[in-house]
Amino acid sequence: MSDENEIDYGPLKNLIGVWKGSSGVDVAPERDGPEDNPYYETITFTAVGDVENAESQVLSVVRYHQVVQRKSNDETFHDETGYWMWDPKTKTVMHSLVIPRAVCVLAGGNYTGAKGDKGGVVLEVAASVEDQDWSIIQSPFMQANARTTEFRHKIEVGDGHLSYLETTIVEIYGKVFEHTDENELVRV
Ligand code: HEM
Repeated sequence: MSDENEIDYGPLKNLIGVWKGSSGVDVAPERDGPEDNPYYETITFTAVGDVENAESQVLSVVRYHQVVQRKSNDETFHDETGYWMWDPKTKTVMHSLVIPRAVCVLAGGNYTGAKGDKGGVVLEVAASVEDQDWSIIQSPFMQANARTTEFRHKIEVGDGHLSYLETTIVEIYGKVFEHTDENELVRV
């Protein structure tokens, strides 16, 4: 890895820092129907440098940790970690994530400029169990009982503001459930 101060993080540069937001809405699966959970959270994005793969691909890397608390009781009910990676040669944005339900995702996509002239970006990545490249790995229990089949994540970030919408498709309780999470955060 090179010194992180010399790295060009491309569109990921906007993410680096600590973000907080308290207007989160989670729609989660329960046996008797969807449950809405208002939440607040902190997401910490840390620049960690770059990596070289097979002496030909160089990725710049940002690590993150997301801690989400339920407004009703302040309980931490979602903890997620992973990396955002940028490949400047192919202009590919990659997002790896792990959640402690024994589910891992490697999503891929790209970015566009955000509306307005403040240099913001929209990062958009997706993964699917059907996709050979950008896919989902989960434990045998989750495969059998709460199988994640698709994941889509769109983040708009710039000018001290970050908003996201994340959709996770889960097969659970004999149904296909659209599990969504969205929030708006500010850099602190
Ligand atoms: C802000 C982000 C998220 C929040 C707040 C959240 C919250 C929740 C909640 C409240 C449940 C219902 C079960 C429970 O009460 O624990 C749930 C279920 C689930 N979530 Fe999430 N989730 C988030 C993101 C994700 C992501 C990114 C994935 C996977 C890519 C995921 C996969 C699942 C799965 C597979 C279940 C079904 C397990 C079950 O209900 O027993 N979630 N989530």
